[in-house]
Amino acid sequence: MFIRHEFFEKNAILLLIGTLLTVAVGGIVEIVPLFTIETTVEHVEGMRPYSPLELRGRDIYVREGCYLCHSQQIRTLRDEVERYGHYSIAAESMYDHPFQWGSKRIGPDLARVGGKYSNDWHYAHLENAQEVVPESLMPHYAFLAETPIDPSDIADRMRTLRTLGVPYTDEQIADAKADLATQADPNADSAKLLARYPKANVVPGDGHRVTEMDALVAYLQMLGTLVNFADTNTERLQQ
Ligand code: HEC
Repeated sequence: MFIRHEFFEKNAILLLIGTLLTVAVGGIVEIVPLFTIETTVEHVEGMRPYSPLELRGRDIYVREGCYLCHSQQIRTLRDEVERYGHYSIAAESMYDHPFQWGSKRIGPDLARVGGKYSNDWHYAHLENAQEVVPESLMPHYAFLAETPIDPSDIADRMRTLRTLGVPYTDEQIADAKADLATQADPNADSAKLLARYPKANVVPGDGHRVTEMDALVAYLQMLGTLVNFADTNTERLQQ
């Protein structure tokens, strides 16, 4: 054994090749399973792709750089779990391209902000955060309520995500424009929308002129509400 080892140690090239081989095996064992990401991420009851309005809201969230001040990742630390709720699990980001975990918290984590406040609170807060939270540092986004959403490209956005593995059905794509308007119109019949996108939050917009603000609020109100943690087997930190 030692004699053979000496042989390696006295041949720099052989030692180098041997080292590379060893490191390569370790790397392959760690990295290759991640290529099969569909099976690596545990499927959890309740996760569904974003509704068309939530998807537009998410795109606005990314465009406005909300992730520069807000994370969407609750860590497995007691103080985080006590403040924000159950720690984030991989499945909750499975339809995010790109994910919005963020790396900085000037404002609080938003992974479970859905349902924490009323729709009206969000409209008022996005319009002028200091009016609602006087010490807030958050910029004003009143212009979002002035900017209508162009629904003509929503189907294309969904098709693009489908190429990345988000399981939108043909029916969901065909009805995307109608679903988008329905979710921003409290007077519309939302039965079909809710069948396709359970727990979708209807925002108090006017279905004919859906604004970027409506979309962003629909997205924020969905965050963290899809998975019912009472039903999952993930280990609980909070008692
Ligand atoms: C310059 C940093 C900054 C940016 C950019 C920013 N926020 Fe905030 N946000 C804050 C701070 C600070 C707070 C905490 C005070 C408050 O509630 O206003 C906050 C609070 C919030 C809350 C309430 C969270 C809670 O649990 O109380 C929401 C929702 C929110 N922001 C959404 C957004 C969205 C959506 C965007 C992008 C359009 C955004 N923020 C951009 C700093 C920021």
